[in-house]
Amino acid sequence: MTVIRLAGVQDVEEMAELSRRSFDPPLRDHLVTTQPRTGEFWRIFVEHPGSFPGLRFLVADAGPGGIVGLADFRHPEPATGFLSHVCVSAAARGQGLATALMRAYLEERPDVQRMELDVFEGSTAARRLYEHLGFRARSSSSWWTMPLPTSERDTDTGIAFADLHGSFARFGLFGFCELHGTFRDREFHVGRIGEEVLRLFSPDDASDTGLLGALGAVFPTLSRALVVTPGDSAPALERLELLDRSVRMAAEDLRAIAGPS
Ligand SMILES: CC(C)(COP(=O)(O)OP(=O)(O)OC[C@H]1O[C@@H](n2cnc3c(N)ncnc32)[C@H](O)[C@@H]1OP(=O)(O)O)[C@@H](O)C(=O)NCCC(=O)NCCS
Repeated sequence: MTVIRLAGVQDVEEMAELSRRSFDPPLRDHLVTTQPRTGEFWRIFVEHPGSFPGLRFLVADAGPGGIVGLADFRHPEPATGFLSHVCVSAAARGQGLATALMRAYLEERPDVQRMELDVFEGSTAARRLYEHLGFRARSSSSWWTMPLPTSERDTDTGIAFADLHGSFARFGLFGFCELHGTFRDREFHVGRIGEEVLRLFSPDDASDTGLLGALGAVFPTLSRALVVTPGDSAPALERLELLDRSVRMAAEDLRAIAGPS
């Protein structure tokens, strides 16, 4: 029998493996929740819940069958729950496990009166499920990728990182990290996701070939950048490819998730 329970430290590697298997490349390569060492990141949440109030990791445990589902919830504002991430192993889909994970969360949190989540447009099974559970689209964002310019070796590129040792340490441990610093006297904030992907938090950085070249010189395995923009409009840049669109959905009536009382 499959039971829904709170995730434990012993589950984190299996959870990360399940998450990784649930998304196909190339989406998988661009998400922090699907990197090979994400379990180490989750271990800290699961092991130190007091430091992360409102955050909840639940798993669907099939006993000898292992962990077949997981969901991670946040509580961004009073009465609102946020489903950050849910996945169910391919063999266990269509049996109500994703719904059961959401229901278990609502049973724990009777103060939650509405739910929000983000779903990729290309995740048709997830979108259909959420629509049947009463979620409606509220806004969207577009995820673009672009190749990075090839760079010379790291010499004096004009880039200075705020905590390069810390960023290398985080990347070594988790397989992703954020990078802060200055480039030619302006501040920047970007991220690395796996060896190849540079996450740009500001779309303006996508047209700054000097910054991109300097980052590529410091991290020579980077091959492409990921830029997220609001709505459907594309930034005026060459060689952009649409990876997917992310849709923010909200449910104001949670009875379809909670089931018959
Ligand atoms: C999206 C995902 C989590 C859904 O998990 P799931 O456990 O299959 O979801 P459920 O079983 O609760 O619901 C799926 C469907 O099965 C139906 N179902 C539920 N219980 C059922 C049962 N006992 N018998 C038959 N069908 C059932 C549900 O009504 C639902 O149908 P609908 O989509 O037409 O509404 C899963 O497909 C997945 O992991 N996908 C890849 C990762 C992903 O895209 N995650 C979402 C990111 S936002």
